[in-house]
Amino acid sequence: MAWRAASSACAAPLLLWCALMTAGDLKVEMMARGIQATRLNDSVTISCKVIYSQPLNITSMGITWFWKSLTLDKEVKVFEFFGDHQKAFRPGANVSLWRLKSGDASLKLPGVQLEEAGEYRCEVVVTPLKAQGTVQLKVVASPTSRLFQDQAVVKENEGKYMCESSGFYPKDINITWEKRTQKSPHHIVISENIITGPTIKNMDGTFNITSYLKLNSSQEDPGTVYRCVIQHESLHTPVSIDFILTALRQSLSEPEKTDIFSTYGWLISFIAAGLILLIVLIHWKKVPLREEEGRN
Ligand SMILES: *[C@@H]1O[C@H](CO)[C@@H](O)[C@H](O)[C@H]1NC(C)=O
Ligand SMILES: *[C@@H]1O[C@H](CO)[C@@H](O)[C@H](O)[C@H]1NC(C)=O
Ligand SMILES: *[C@@H]1O[C@H](CO)[C@@H](O)[C@H](O)[C@H]1NC(C)=O
Ligand SMILES: *[C@@H]1O[C@H](CO)[C@@H](O)[C@H](O)[C@H]1NC(C)=O
Ligand SMILES: *[C@@H]1O[C@H](CO)[C@@H](O)[C@H](O)[C@H]1NC(C)=O
Ligand SMILES: *[C@@H]1O[C@H](CO)[C@@H](O)[C@H](O)[C@H]1NC(C)=O
Repeated sequence: MAWRAASSACAAPLLLWCALMTAGDLKVEMMARGIQATRLNDSVTISCKVIYSQPLNITSMGITWFWKSLTLDKEVKVFEFFGDHQKAFRPGANVSLWRLKSGDASLKLPGVQLEEAGEYRCEVVVTPLKAQGTVQLKVVASPTSRLFQDQAVVKENEGKYMCESSGFYPKDINITWEKRTQKSPHHIVISENIITGPTIKNMDGTFNITSYLKLNSSQEDPGTVYRCVIQHESLHTPVSIDFILTALRQSLSEPEKTDIFSTYGWLISFIAAGLILLIVLIHWKKVPLREEEGRN
């Protein structure tokens, strides 16, 4: 059949858009490059545009959406509509009939889960014509990241910092460390004393990972800014978290707090030093005066 040949042409990766012709002039257009991405738990609208030479009359039209999972090769029905009948085989799956009138047969799936990724097929029938298109749905989850100091194994002059990313999908992630000293303001990639743990799978299918950086603070300059950089498919730009090495031994666990403390710490030290100087000056001035008074 004509649409079968078109379907394989559609799988060619370099096609910018995917249009399928059948006998006649009914066409279906899916997402560019045949891939659509969404976030875990989000509501996704899988695009399917019907292109027909005449105005559409939805009473003589049929829409069926199918889904094939990544792991199983079996295709299942997700939603169907024809005449005055509509049925969702997946809870919440729907096609807006109001939009369908203007040729939009897009499928809405609320609360998408990781296992719902795979191939979605939109099949449109305008008797006697039939057209279809497919799209790959990717479901991703962004990591939640935090940086903190490991309190348990703090030896003299030694700090262990942990950069934890949790709840991400897919499994591939890059965690790197950088530093910037006051002398050289460019970020330098740190390659030593880093241990990145294994990826741990959570119950919901997402992953966790922790990277450790060990610092011997007697070899580091105070004021050095350390940075943990997280790269993941779900992030448009890498996420980075900073902390500043303030003293030989750090006791604060939150990097943001450390940051604020370092600023105010300096300020407090300055004020304290100023006050002491003032008191000393006053005393130094007062004492000789009294002595002079005594002599007189
Ligand atoms: C997705 O929803 C579940 C249940 O409501 C929740 O436990 C989980 O944290 C959510 N995940 C994300 C990444 O929003
Ligand atoms: C749509 O089709 C039905 C049945 O074929 C017909 O009764 C109806 O008048 C048509 N509507 C329009 C707007 O053409
Ligand atoms: C689709 O949504 C419409 C409007 O919200 C609703 O009336 C209809 O019952 C839904 N269809 C299914 C199959 O749930
Ligand atoms: C993943 O990290 C989260 C947040 O720190 C934590 O609550 C969860 O227990 C971790 N999962 C596993 C399997 O360790
Ligand atoms: C830190 O470096 C100093 C000087 O190089 C060294 O004497 C000390 O043993 C190191 N400490 C740790 C915990 O590695
Ligand atoms: C991780 O880094 C490698 C090498 O720079 C790169 O090829 C890969 O795409 C990165 N992965 C992610 C998830 O950013």
